[in-house]
Amino acid sequence: GRKYRIVVLPGDGIGPEISKVALDVLRCLGPEEGIEFEFQEKLLGGAAIDAVGDPLPDDTLEACKDSDAVLLAAIGGYKWDNNEPCLRPERGLLGLRAGMGVFANLRPAIVLPQLVDSSTLKREVAEGVDIMVVRELTGGIYFGQPKGFGKNSDGEPIAFNTEVYSVSEIDRIARVAFEIARKRRGELCSIDKSNVLEASQLWRQVVTDVGKDYPDVKLTHMLVDNAAMQLIRDPKQFDTIVTNNIFGDILSDEASMLTGSIGMLPSASVKTSGPGLFEPIHGSAPDIAGQDKANPLAMILSAAMLLKYGLGEKQAAERIEKAVTITLDNGFRTGDIMAPGKKLVGCTAMGEQVIKALQAIERVY
Ligand code: IPM
Ligand code: MN
Repeated sequence: GRKYRIVVLPGDGIGPEISKVALDVLRCLGPEEGIEFEFQEKLLGGAAIDAVGDPLPDDTLEACKDSDAVLLAAIGGYKWDNNEPCLRPERGLLGLRAGMGVFANLRPAIVLPQLVDSSTLKREVAEGVDIMVVRELTGGIYFGQPKGFGKNSDGEPIAFNTEVYSVSEIDRIARVAFEIARKRRGELCSIDKSNVLEASQLWRQVVTDVGKDYPDVKLTHMLVDNAAMQLIRDPKQFDTIVTNNIFGDILSDEASMLTGSIGMLPSASVKTSGPGLFEPIHGSAPDIAGQDKANPLAMILSAAMLLKYGLGEKQAAERIEKAVTITLDNGFRTGDIMAPGKKLVGCTAMGEQVIKALQAIERVY
């Protein structure tokens, strides 16, 4: 059988609870698919700050670079919110993304038929939404130099960051996005602020140039403020979106809420070759940590993305997605997606239901 080494980063808050559930799902799936997983747990974020005084310990980054794929739960919490910047959990996550070189962040926002009524949008607006946001993840204002604190010519304190993109950085993320759009509805919308920002002018030009290699994909451009509005007004007009790091951060949160709960959505961060990083879009939810209330489905679906995009194990990934669908069809809901007439379950029980569904599918094969 195939054998994969997976680094698991449970992180903080609800991270350990949802990690346990996702690993149980993978352990159940493995034998049926002829896949052997070797899991190695490492420290990241607040947990790593507490244990070794560093949000991204060297041995964590080395293990991740040396793995076949990385499964990350969530990092952060009130406890570290007042730490100095280099001792913040978020630093660990940004360092990991940059250190692994995973420049393409794929964030699907799909309104599942079972959860249409969890959306805050009207049924006719939300029903059938299926968007893939491709976010550039290792460049732009998050990493641009110069940045920092200083003083202006009047001696007044200032702070500054730099939005910077090179042609090659835009070229490679555009190619990932065109490839994805080609396998979907064949429509790519590039989102920028080219009416104001030079970095966005270059973005638009390079994406347009790359588009010449993809004549089968319909490319459009949209300004980010308009896009923020269009996502709420008529989300179904979007198929695949490509955008820079910070616009992608903001728009993917907005897109995720079209679906009703951020607790449902996975993400994949990949590069052209080498291990990818797979994590739910949601955070560490410290307010419900340790209470067995968290929705583990985004984490389980992140494991599915790991199989599909990280290991090329499409059939195994689809089995997990099917099991999640069956679990929702059977009426099980965590608090974030609870609705009248449904069965309220906690994190562990939701995981058990997914495993039950997984086993039911396996018996059919
Ligand atoms: C995300 C998060 C991170 C980001 C933070 C925690 C650094 O919001 O994954 O979207 O801004 O990228
Ligand atoms: Mn974010």
